[in-house]
Amino acid sequence: MSRFVIVSSDAAFEQLVRAVIAVGHRGTLEVLPTEAAVADAPELVAALTDRAEVLVLGPDLTLEDALRLATVVDVRYPELSVVLIGASDSDLVVQAMRVGIRHILSPDADAATIRLELERACQTFASRQRTRNPVAAASQRDGRVIGVFSPKGGVGKTTIATNIAVGLGKIAPMSVVIVDLDLQFGDVASGLYLEPNHTVTDAVSAPASADTLVLKAFLTVHPAGIYAMCAPKSPAEADQITPSQVTHLLGQLAQQFDYVVIDTAPGLPELGLAAMEQCTDIVWVSAMDVPSARGLRSGIDTLKQLDILPSKRHVVLNMTDSRTGLTVQDMESTIGAPIDVAIPRLRSVAFATNRGVPLLQEPGRDRAARGMKQLVDRFTPEWTSKSGKQHRRAVI
Ligand SMILES: Nc1ncnc2c1ncn2[C@@H]1O[C@H](COP(=O)(O)OP(=O)(O)O)[C@@H](O)[C@H]1O
Ligand SMILES: [Mg+2]
Repeated sequence: MSRFVIVSSDAAFEQLVRAVIAVGHRGTLEVLPTEAAVADAPELVAALTDRAEVLVLGPDLTLEDALRLATVVDVRYPELSVVLIGASDSDLVVQAMRVGIRHILSPDADAATIRLELERACQTFASRQRTRNPVAAASQRDGRVIGVFSPKGGVGKTTIATNIAVGLGKIAPMSVVIVDLDLQFGDVASGLYLEPNHTVTDAVSAPASADTLVLKAFLTVHPAGIYAMCAPKSPAEADQITPSQVTHLLGQLAQQFDYVVIDTAPGLPELGLAAMEQCTDIVWVSAMDVPSARGLRSGIDTLKQLDILPSKRHVVLNMTDSRTGLTVQDMESTIGAPIDVAIPRLRSVAFATNRGVPLLQEPGRDRAARGMKQLVDRFTPEWTSKSGKQHRRAVI
């Protein structure tokens, strides 16, 4: 069985893909010369049926030939996941989607990008097979949905959300998605140094909400092996997005990923509450100051009254600093809940934000990184199976 099949007569491209597959993927690779493949597309597809998982259409195919081949695939062997090489402008994306192509690679993509896209293409194949086979579909994931909240801004929500996502990406590669629900002023893209082609606006559009594969095509891949769904480019676009669209989006993502990490806007706006209802875990963040702790207490109280607190709660005290004259105990009594993780105020964190590289993406392990890692560990299956230590007091 050839897991990957390339149609291409471009030797350099073939070499590159061959090298990528040799390092990052299981399974064999077969290469078919372009001219023969294009000349008899139906025969090619018949030969691949129930044998190949991913078909890569090389840069030497004309767009017309590539789309024609993909059309035959779409009719005869729709599970096969097709990767097209081309500049991913929105015209091409729409044309490609119509013929079932969900993966587009830029002609000058580097090895790391190709590897990630091939990984995604394998996932597409697997999920199409599940859809065809209802027994396998029953095993669709029901991922953990982790929301990072705080009534106040500037306390470190985005910093913490991006680190949770990158940290979990090491445990569950390609199984984590971070969603920026600070729709007006979100900065997940900047915190992860991403320039997304698509945003939450595309993710809640009719085609994406009807078809999870279309939705996945709108995600941005991050080099740490996670996916991101970034905030809309303008506040006006953000205004169009409704709480029920967000509820549906999070449901779709939870079926596709082991972990959905949500960054939120300050406060408890309607949209944030809709998101919270989908969360299995809430991470509350307070900075080490009294207004921030008081805000958190009243936020938690309000939610208790509304009866929408999910089962697992994690309280993070961020920017701890002995010079504030406050202790963890002071903060706990003001918040009215035990603090689970403390993260010190360190310059490395601010640097990381400005560079767009979360602390946990790099090998260094200062005290702030250790705090972030402790938080990430709370979401691992090992932690969950250990009972009785859900809230052990943090030490500063
Ligand atoms: N533990 C920390 N030490 C130092 N700076 C921090 C720490 N946590 C966050 N920051 C900085 O504070 C600023 C606000 O953080 P951010 O995550 O954007 O907050 P929020 O998303 O809650 O508005 C950022 O510049 C970030 O680098
Ligand atoms: Mg933020």
